[in-house]
Amino acid sequence: MSEVKAQIDTNPSQEEAKAVVDIIMERYTDKTGLLLNTLNDIQDLYKYLPKETLQRVFENIGTSHEDLNSMGDFFDNLSLVPTGRYVIEVCDGTCCHIQGAPQIIDRFEKELGIKSGEVTADGLLSLRPVSCVGACGVAPVVQSGDHVYGCVRLIDISAIITSIREYAKTKDDPELSAMLTILAERGFTHDA
Ligand code: FES
Repeated sequence: MSEVKAQIDTNPSQEEAKAVVDIIMERYTDKTGLLLNTLNDIQDLYKYLPKETLQRVFENIGTSHEDLNSMGDFFDNLSLVPTGRYVIEVCDGTCCHIQGAPQIIDRFEKELGIKSGEVTADGLLSLRPVSCVGACGVAPVVQSGDHVYGCVRLIDISAIITSIREYAKTKDDPELSAMLTILAERGFTHDA
């Protein structure tokens, strides 16, 4: 098993961003929903919308930042700032807050070497406090993707980080793999 899977560069060069956007947009023969579908695909790939990719989308589709900003509702699902491939969400709703969520957030920040809202140097993890996730019976709660950790203690945090990192090594991302293959064929390589 490889130690680390190849990752896409989350700060792509102008040339690579153009290639990625063109590859994505070529998939959509039906122009209905092209902009939203393209932005969602970029978000899935990078976990945010790098500005280099947006510039290419604007060029291809003939729209502008102003048009995009006016589509505020769907922007809720999209991010203009980088997030980790896996986001560690620490519930800071009332129950979890009383049960020690602030201390849990502090410990995650120390263990990861980042502040809430930041991304680890390898681009894998980011940390985000969230409001009630609906599991108050097992507060305090931490979740990442489909994984939910209940009754979290400070001494559990290192193991939670390790488990997410181990999961990341084994989890296949077919879309990412396919894109990396196409990019490699076009001369854009990424470290494994
Ligand atoms: S307050 Fe954390 S799960 Fe409800």
